[in-house]
Amino acid sequence: MSDVVRVGLVGVGIIAKTHLEVLAERSEVALDFTVDPDHSRAPAFRGGEPPHYSGLADALAEHSPDLVVIATPTDTHAELAVQALTLSGARVLVEKPLVHDLPSLARLRALEEAVDVRGRLFTAYHFAFSPEVRWAARQLAAHPEWGPVTGITSAFYDPYVLRREQAVASYTSSWMDSGVNQLSMLARFVDLTALDSARSLDGGASAWCTASYRSRGTVGTARLRSSWLTGYSSKESALTFGRSGVELWIDHTAMTGFAARDGELLATHGDDGATPRKIAHYRPLYASLLSGSPDPVLGFATAETITEIHHTKPAPSPVSGGPG
Ligand SMILES: NC(=O)c1ccc[n+]([C@@H]2O[C@H](COP(=O)([O-])OP(=O)(O)OC[C@H]3O[C@@H](n4cnc5c(N)ncnc54)[C@H](O)[C@@H]3O)[C@@H](O)[C@H]2O)c1
Repeated sequence: MSDVVRVGLVGVGIIAKTHLEVLAERSEVALDFTVDPDHSRAPAFRGGEPPHYSGLADALAEHSPDLVVIATPTDTHAELAVQALTLSGARVLVEKPLVHDLPSLARLRALEEAVDVRGRLFTAYHFAFSPEVRWAARQLAAHPEWGPVTGITSAFYDPYVLRREQAVASYTSSWMDSGVNQLSMLARFVDLTALDSARSLDGGASAWCTASYRSRGTVGTARLRSSWLTGYSSKESALTFGRSGVELWIDHTAMTGFAARDGELLATHGDDGATPRKIAHYRPLYASLLSGSPDPVLGFATAETITEIHHTKPAPSPVSGGPG
């Protein structure tokens, strides 16, 4: 990218606020334009207000951004990503999940003949950048003697019980929203291979899924629980290393973690409370994206793997249906 990174932001809803806050911190970034049909003007950025459009195509007819950020409802990502890739030469950062179904992934792959999809398209798997997740990944790398990860349990609860309609409109279902966060977080620790079972519960507001993975030459199972049926946010994951008896707990809400074996505390990670959680995710995400060598977790290959696992319809069994 050039010295100045001209950014076009598509969608100025809830998560766009975090993008704007982190982008405003970066001296090389200039906000070129914003797009949102439901807003008549751009949000303030460093005290100014960039040109605002109701459609991405209109904006790209007037501007040549270096980066287009798509932060719109999940089922609009694919169409807007195609527009950004074909109507501009910009890199494109799409909020997670990259797409809402497998035909949309095929549509992006089909662009590869004409467009450098792998060099230009990135997905904002922000959970993979959360401080406790990066700490845990460093622990794994530093302790090969712990052996393979033999089991994972992850529970993500979001407080959408009182605004379920809005949650469905923006995020589709608990599995569509949190399931993809869980899979992208796990991609830091293990090689995901398949979704083995998937139950959509409570009309899509909850899910219970199991995914298999490889870790240091062995296979294991991750149990993934997600739900919107709560007034409070709570997200935790536990990794077990059965051969060594080590357990590693990470609390994604408090951004903390610890490792233990029997009665012995092996390692801890605390948070200084200085950085709001979403900023703590997106600050390192943007630092990586704009570094010139983005973390592979942001790249199209990771998005392909996660999307395919996320949308697998496991064979029916007495206890499994399809994810909602
Ligand atoms: N809210 C979060 O905490 C969060 C965190 C990480 C990722 N995300 C992801 O970000 C995406 C957006 O979530 P949100 O919470 O900001 O939703 P939101 O509903 O608050 O905001 C989406 C915005 O996009 C606008 N929009 C809709 N169609 C558009 C179009 N064609 N062109 C331009 N703008 C359009 C809407 O008017 C709205 O202002 C979702 O895919 C979600 O999974 C959200």
